[in-house]
Amino acid sequence: MSELQRQLSQEILRRRTFAIISHPDAGKTTLTEKLLLYGGAIRLAGSVKARKAQKHAISDWMEIEKQRGISVTSSVLQFDYDGYRVNILDTPGHQDFSEDTYRTLMAADSAVMLIDVAKGVEEQTKKLFHVCKQRGIPIFTFVNKLDRFGKNPFDLMEEIENVLGIRSYPMNWPIGVDGNYTGVYNRKLAQIELFEEDSAHGQRIIPSSQGSVDDPAFAKMIGAETHQALCDDIELLDTAGDAFDIQKVLSGELTPMFFGSAMTNFGVRPFLEEFLELAPSPSPRETEDSVIKPDQEGFSAFVFKIQANMNPAHRDRLAFIRICSGKFTRGMAVHHMQTNKPVKLAQPQQFLAQERTIVEEAYPGDIIGLFDPGIFSIGDTLCESSNLFRFKAFPIFPPEQFSKVQVKDTMKRKQFLKGIEQLAQEGAVQLFRQPDVPGEFFIVGTVGALQFEVLEYRLKNEYGVDILMYGLAYGLARWMQGKDVTSKPIKGVDKNAIVFDKNDLPVALFSNEWALRWAVEQNPDIQFFESPQQL
Ligand code: G4P
Repeated sequence: MSELQRQLSQEILRRRTFAIISHPDAGKTTLTEKLLLYGGAIRLAGSVKARKAQKHAISDWMEIEKQRGISVTSSVLQFDYDGYRVNILDTPGHQDFSEDTYRTLMAADSAVMLIDVAKGVEEQTKKLFHVCKQRGIPIFTFVNKLDRFGKNPFDLMEEIENVLGIRSYPMNWPIGVDGNYTGVYNRKLAQIELFEEDSAHGQRIIPSSQGSVDDPAFAKMIGAETHQALCDDIELLDTAGDAFDIQKVLSGELTPMFFGSAMTNFGVRPFLEEFLELAPSPSPRETEDSVIKPDQEGFSAFVFKIQANMNPAHRDRLAFIRICSGKFTRGMAVHHMQTNKPVKLAQPQQFLAQERTIVEEAYPGDIIGLFDPGIFSIGDTLCESSNLFRFKAFPIFPPEQFSKVQVKDTMKRKQFLKGIEQLAQEGAVQLFRQPDVPGEFFIVGTVGALQFEVLEYRLKNEYGVDILMYGLAYGLARWMQGKDVTSKPIKGVDKNAIVFDKNDLPVALFSNEWALRWAVEQNPDIQFFESPQQL
């Protein structure tokens, strides 16, 4: 084994790259902050939160974008814990929900699904879960806010199975009756951990009280009734529940479930430690015709996110790459497959908790930001010239919101076209056009409403173009395949709802599932696909 290989396998083994998926307000910011706190990345929790507070309004988002440093650090956070090198990918919450959020999951090797104990599985969690499920990555569940009244844990398990189609294995179990919880029982260690009064509001690391479940003092401590309920629950889990099976976890069929409270720090450390032990290190990645293993010596990476530079003087952008194999060293020359040109990775940025720094070396699983003079697109491959290949294309996520967009001042038409096409290339929006009106206006599709605001703001600030935008009442897009699909009317689909994507493929827009089903029934000779990649 060469020295490089030895170093590679060591570094790969200790890396964990994951995303936290949740619905807004489940506590993602709080949990992220607590994980950083345990990682020693921040002494006193509060800074991630402060950043989020600034993010609340769209106008603030723009302000934050101007302060590039802040918003860039939110893309990935890195820290060390117990010998592990942890990369947490940020998947923006509600306000920022966009295709970016989905794409970030492409760079993760596992996901932590955060659920509010009182609310259960919510809408955005479902969407993000399905992207993880499609990729087959392991999903770990953290049920948060256990310090508050919440749903029955058996009901939560059932909900996860019914709504998401995944079985769960509780690693610990809430202690308490009728949704009032006082602690958890750790199934693996067969011991209890009780909440402690936390006067510092979870700002500091707190120890948890521990003791064996058989300890007579324990029954006394939590009360005979609660103790009996706990013993009954555990017995039921042991006899009727799924067995723990790491293979099923790794293939995404079983989710280890943890209960805790991010705000009061309760259960965060046991979760982190167990998660780091069970979660996979960087996994092999599929190329167009084979698979690249992380310990392969040749460097390779793909672009999963592009962020515009808000300095209007230069239009450069930051391209975020996920390293898939080999060792990265600053200044190395690699091949950019999509332009078929060499590029030098001169000023790579890395994100250590709150700061961005120049990175000298990095390994599979790590994320780096590169200055992009406008050559990179989402999904692009960087590899060594001695071994050329392309990673498999990113999935195209079906847009769910649509607007008609046109330039206000027709004299600015050229800038408008340039700007909107560049933003589409960056992956900020998906463009469709109606036949017979080339360049007059576009139908813009996104997965989140914020993207329209971003589009408007960026066209104005970066390209000096004001636009007119009209929201459209569509909620679904379907790529169509079939004989005469473009030359004859399609039953149940209005003429204006037929548009063409950037590759001139015909797409039908629908207001809802019902309208789509109707069209499917009425046009048996046409097939409707969620993405052009299924054609
Ligand atoms: P998000 O990033 O997923 O949107 O959620 P965030 O962490 O901002 O948490 C949303 C709210 O839930 C916050 O309250 C936060 O303090 C609270 N929270 C997070 N974890 C827990 C927990 O374990 N227990 C309880 N009881 N609450 C929790 P907020 O009122 O919106 O903000 P703040 O006043 O606390 O700053």
